Amino acid sequence: MLELRGVTKIYRKGGRVIRAADGLDCSVEPGDFLVVHGPSGSGKSTLLLMAGGMLPPDGGEVLWRGENVYRWKPARRNRYRRENVGFVFQRFFLIPHITVYDNIRLRYNLRGADAEAAEGIAELSRRLGIVERLEHYPGELSVGEQQRAAVARALAGSPEIVLADEPTGNLDPENAGIIIECLREESRRGRSVIMVTHNHAYLGAGTGVLHLVAGRAAVPAAAGGTDRGNRADGGRE
Ligand SMILES: Nc1ncnc2c1ncn2[C@@H]1O[C@H](COP(=O)(O)OP(=O)(O)OP(=O)(O)O)[C@@H](O)[C@H]1O
Ligand SMILES: [Mg+2]
Repeated sequence: MLELRGVTKIYRKGGRVIRAADGLDCSVEPGDFLVVHGPSGSGKSTLLLMAGGMLPPDGGEVLWRGENVYRWKPARRNRYRRENVGFVFQRFFLIPHITVYDNIRLRYNLRGADAEAAEGIAELSRRLGIVERLEHYPGELSVGEQQRAAVARALAGSPEIVLADEPTGNLDPENAGIIIECLREESRRGRSVIMVTHNHAYLGAGTGVLHLVAGRAAVPAAAGGTDRGNRADGGRE
């Protein structure tokens, strides 16, 4: 299980204090698909980066199987990122000078899963509709195709944790649906999935929702109340 316990993150800039995370609690177990929803600037990307071992919180804990990720030595944390986490960045960060195929293949290599690469890339590119683009360079792809390639790369080698930052942000409804279905399939296969979105249409896509407002968990006004926690407005239970 991946768990955030009382996590805070405060950015200080030019005398301004921004509470990007303000006492967040949430968790995902194998098979969970948590949808994190909130307005721009509410701390969604910050939460995902902290969960992915890429951004140390100022307070609280990020626990993977009960161990505090930020207590580990950097080498151990790197291994966590490399082996356990598949991350879809909001800005993709595909490597521009190698093909889409090699972008995905590199992840298999880093995860020590070379033997699975050929079959895995064939399956992922089929699921995500980028079979015809594998030999292209990222700069030759439409933005939506780059997004699907970024999802394929994140899923390469079947990481146990999938963290996707606005993976449908640049897509038409049909292609957004393809990505959502792909992430659902990952959760059905026992991965722990967190997807960030600001689109209301995808609130029901997962097994739970965490609404963020100014770095805090909140129940949307329509639902009433100020309960905290990712099961506040209906998980699977
Ligand atoms: N490195 C940083 N330095 C200072 N402030 C930052 C930094 N990173 C994020 N912030 C601020 O923290 C807040 C949360 O940022 P974050 O990127 O997590 O929001 P978000 O919910 O992902 O927004 P969006 O939907 O626009 O992607 C914002 O107000 C942002 O300006
Ligand atoms: Mg963001």
